[in-house]
Amino acid sequence: MYSKEELSQGLDTAIVGKKFFVFDTIDSTNACARTLGDAGTTEGAVVVADFQTSGRGRLGRAWIAEPGENLLFSVLLRPRISIASAGLLTLFASVGVARAIERRIGEPVECKWPNDLLLHGKKICGILLENLFQQSQVAYAVIGAGINVNQRTFPDEISLRGTSLAIETGKSFDRKELLQTVLSELDVLYPPVQQGNFNAIVPEWIKRCTMFGKPVTVQQQNHTMSGIARTLNHDAGLVIETGTGLQTVYAGDVSVVS
Ligand code: BTN
Repeated sequence: MYSKEELSQGLDTAIVGKKFFVFDTIDSTNACARTLGDAGTTEGAVVVADFQTSGRGRLGRAWIAEPGENLLFSVLLRPRISIASAGLLTLFASVGVARAIERRIGEPVECKWPNDLLLHGKKICGILLENLFQQSQVAYAVIGAGINVNQRTFPDEISLRGTSLAIETGKSFDRKELLQTVLSELDVLYPPVQQGNFNAIVPEWIKRCTMFGKPVTVQQQNHTMSGIARTLNHDAGLVIETGTGLQTVYAGDVSVVS
């Protein structure tokens, strides 16, 4: 893995990436960032690892990535926002990471609700937001991202829907440069977000998402909902027009019905 010094060199950010915690192997960068959050570490700290032994994904799933090929990192933030706005932080992270990947590869990156980034219609990045709430406010938020960068092969069950920048573009990417670009983009977007203002984030996320107006199914724990994806509501829920009216979902796996 790169050293803290290498990661800091040339990174001109105000908040995000002011401090690095770098590991060859760790259980989960999100778990580590939460420990830092509990210990009172200042916001903007970044935990980065070459390999995770217990990388975690959404809905209790595992996040598996080959050592040394990908970007696995978490950012600790302390925005002054209410519990109700917390879900919007996933949109903030998605827009920041999408902008950064676009800058490096020169191709458009899509957002898929709730936390995926797609290139050529396949997943290249997953984002996992974990919060600590205190007295109806966010005490801290951990934004974890796994970007599939240079990994060239994936197990069959992943390669159906997942891919990497290298597979899609035929090129390898410098992971340090990509991480620094991500942190710069997040840093640019963060000041209003820190005050609870997501006005710049939501329209860009919506523009990057191609599912609106299309028929979708949302697979939830023990039921499936079908309808037309209409919009996002004020707290990042997905609004679906079903046979019985508008319904808002906050978790689940969405697929566009073709
Ligand atoms: C998902 O698509 O389900 C979200 C995956 C998030 C994975 C990243 S990898 C870095 C960070 N640490 C973790 O344990 N998970 C996130």
